[in-house]
Parts: sequence; C-alpha cells; structure tokens
Amino acid sequence: MNGKIAFIGAGNMAGAFAGGLVSSGMAPSLVSLSAPHMEKLDALRARLGVSVTTSNADNVRDADTVVLAVKPQVMEKCLTELMSEIGSMEGKLVISVAAGITVERLSELLGGHRRIVRFMPNTPALIGRGMTGMFAAPGLGDDDLRTAEKIASAAGKWVWVKTEDEINTVTALSGSSPAYFFMIMEAMVEYGVSRGMDGKSARDIVEGGAIGSILLAEKSPEKTLAELREAVTSKGGTTFAALEAFRKGNLPGTVKDGLKACEDRAAEMAKLF
Ligand SMILES: NC(=O)c1ccc[n+]([C@@H]2O[C@H](COP(=O)([O-])OP(=O)(O)OC[C@H]3O[C@@H](n4cnc5c(N)ncnc54)[C@H](OP(=O)(O)O)[C@@H]3O)[C@@H](O)[C@H]2O)c1
Repeated sequence: MNGKIAFIGAGNMAGAFAGGLVSSGMAPSLVSLSAPHMEKLDALRARLGVSVTTSNADNVRDADTVVLAVKPQVMEKCLTELMSEIGSMEGKLVISVAAGITVERLSELLGGHRRIVRFMPNTPALIGRGMTGMFAAPGLGDDDLRTAEKIASAAGKWVWVKTEDEINTVTALSGSSPAYFFMIMEAMVEYGVSRGMDGKSARDIVEGGAIGSILLAEKSPEKTLAELREAVTSKGGTTFAALEAFRKGNLPGTVKDGLKACEDRAAEMAKLF
C-alpha cells in the first residue's frame, strides 16, 4: 500500500487503526488525523509521531485514503462541511468505520463518490486483536481492496462480506460481542464473590479460563466448537451439570435473541442516518 492515510476523528477507532499502522511499520509521516479538539490529537502525535490538525480539509487534501472514524450522528455535518471546502474526493479511497451509515448514504454525502469501503470493527482493535467485517462498494479495484485489507490488518483480523446487510450480522457477531463476553464474565465473577472469593482473584480466574478457552479454539481449527465443548463434558460430571442448567434456562436461545436484537437495531440505525 502506498500513499497517505488521513483519519477523520481521533477517538478509539482512529487511534487503534492509526496506531496499528505505525506499529506495523508504516512511516508516521504517511499518517495524519484531524478532530475538533487538540487534546486527543496531541496525545496521538506524542505517542505515534503522526501529523495532526483541527482542519479536516487540510488533513484529507493530499491523502490517498481517507478513514472516516467519527460517530454516526456527526457524519452528515462533518462530510457536508468537508465537501464544501474540498469539493471532491476524487482520487481517494474512502473507508468508513461508522455503524449504520450505508455506502449509498456515504456516496450521497460525498457528492456521488463510489470508491467506498465500510468497516465494522470492534474494541479489541485497541490492542491489535480486533475483528473487522468489510464491505466494498460494487466495482472497487484490486488496489483499493488490498489497501482496505492492509488497514484492517493493522488492528487484527478481517473478513470481507458479500452484501451490505451482512455488515449488520457482523455487528451482532463481533462488533458488539465484547460486551456479551464481558457480561458473561461479570456474572461468573459475581458468582465467585458470592462464594466468598475476593473480586480480584475471581476476575483473574475467570479471565484465565476465558483466554485459555479462546486460544484453545483458535489453535484447534480442525475441531468444531461442539467437539471442544464435548471434550470437557463427561456425562454426569460437573461441566455436564452446568451445561444442563444453562440449557434449562435456554442460554443458547437467549444468546440468539440478543444477536437478533443487535442486528435488527443495526438495520434500523441504517435508516436513521
Ligand atoms: N467503539 C466501538 O466498539 C466501535 C465498533 C464499531 C464501529 N465503531 C464506529 O467507530 C466510529 C468512531 O467510534 P469511536 O469509538 O472511535 O468514537 P470516539 O472515541 O468517540 O471518537 C470520535 C472522534 O470523532 C471526533 N470528531 C467529532 N466531530 C468531528 C468532526 N466534525 N470532524 C472530525 N472529527 C470529529 C472526536 O473529536 P474530539 O476528540 O476532538 O471530540 C473524536 O476524536 C463510530 O462511528 C462508531 O460507530 C465503533
């Protein structure tokens, strides 16, 4: 990937992707960020050596790729102002990480621009362990696809989806998923504390179990998740007792209901912006 990357926004997501690019070897002089206030910009400049400005127009003018990393609610105002200053995004690949703003809507806000990719990342991107679902506008060239992959790789793993609706499914499966895992972990820690354990020990134990299980799954691609579960479940044993209680409370059904609510909300949000 050649050329300059300009991030609009200096929050969690811009910091995660910009930080990942610099730590994976991209020259800091090729990365720039803009936001209304200097506070976060100054911190990113100090940490990464990238250039920063409070002017979105100055930021994107000579960029080859522009990453839109602002909240969905401010996207319209932000792009309207930007386009009135620079006129066109011609020659630039535009990547949006904003939830709920479709390629069609982005194209409209960008005066009919078509070189657009949508990202649906998640917060583990902050530590380089993100999962990003990506959707490319129809007809995007190979160079643009490779550039998007390089930027997504800077924050972890990625996967292309074939239809834009699938971005909403990715939101349910990974975009929002850290919160689901944290909720389950919270309940486990609360149980440990209710049995007399101190909070720190309970959290250390729960985290250890979670990290180990996830790494075991990652390192065992030849096994299904059901096989991994069965490998720790002897009939009549302790794990079996726990899983029977989970099934009785319809945990799998509850999880699927939650994912459906998430996906439905993502689809509704696409109509709002
Ligand atoms: N966090 C997640 O888990 C997650 C997951 C998937 C997708 N996303 C998407 O990622 C996007 C960014 O989220 P985030 O968590 O990084 O948000 P964030 O930490 O709140 O950062 C938002 C940034 O936007 C800047 N900003 C506000 N108005 C602006 C403008 N007019 N021009 C330029 N910059 C402006 C803010 O600047 P100041 O600092 O100066 O106020 C701030 O740096 C959102 O659209 C969200 O939907 C987030």
